Amino acid sequence: MAHDTHDKTPSTLPYATYEVHAPRLPRIPFIAVSVGLIAVVGSWIPLVLFARARVITSPEPRVSFVQDMGTQPRYNAQQSSEVFEDGRAARLPIPGTVARGHLDEDDHYFHGFTRVKGEDGKPVAKFFDTFPERVKVTPALVKRGQERFNIYCSVCHGLDGTGHGQVNEMAIDDKDPKWVPVASLPSDAVRARPVGHIYNTINVGIRNMSGYGAQVPVADRWAIVAYVRSLQYGQNAPEEAVPADKRNSAQAAAK
Ligand code: HEC
Repeated sequence: MAHDTHDKTPSTLPYATYEVHAPRLPRIPFIAVSVGLIAVVGSWIPLVLFARARVITSPEPRVSFVQDMGTQPRYNAQQSSEVFEDGRAARLPIPGTVARGHLDEDDHYFHGFTRVKGEDGKPVAKFFDTFPERVKVTPALVKRGQERFNIYCSVCHGLDGTGHGQVNEMAIDDKDPKWVPVASLPSDAVRARPVGHIYNTINVGIRNMSGYGAQVPVADRWAIVAYVRSLQYGQNAPEEAVPADKRNSAQAAAK
């Protein structure tokens, strides 16, 4: 075919006087490429900030675009207010108010003693000799008491209650003149105490021992009392209370 055409219209002109290039889009201007690159890389910055915010902590409150009453005017402690006649912003509870769940009217359970009229007519404390009705003395309770005793009491009274706690022994070794040696819990004197008395010792302290009521909740105080009683019994138990096959090892341990 091509030959035919050539033959019919011979020409001296070459077919093409220029080099043939593949068709090409016009070159993107350098400025557009740079701006585009910067925009792409710049768009990663929020991602980096998000990632950073997930791992760091900050003392500043977080940025809150929708306030939803998040910040409101308020009074600081001890600030005054014109709204009230006495000028105080902080209001006292209405006299006689009892916080929910704090009625605590069961003396036996919450205090371990009750007040009775003494011989001279003045009220005196009478300690309860039994566990309160709502305290069920079970192996689980004694176990809980052991755990709590080892945490709160053993540092002074020792794990066996006889006073071999680190704090007590170090103070005695240092001959600290102000140190009052701890009481031995299995001693006759403390064994003779009613359970309510021991409860009260844990709650508010006694003589030179401070109270643990602030750290130890009511139910745990009774658990510790139960455990103190079991320590006392364990170290004064009659021979018959020890199973026959364990008697020799128990006697060896006691020596
Ligand atoms: C920081 C040391 C320390 C810790 C901890 C401590 N006590 Fe005492 N405890 C003492 C001292 C000291 C005495 C003797 C106080 C005195 O005679 O003035 C004492 C005395 C006692 C007595 C005898 C009170 C009496 O009837 O005469 C009991 C019971 C007792 N502690 C129980 C406990 C229990 C239970 C705990 C744990 C909740 C505990 N203590 C934790 C130091 C401690």
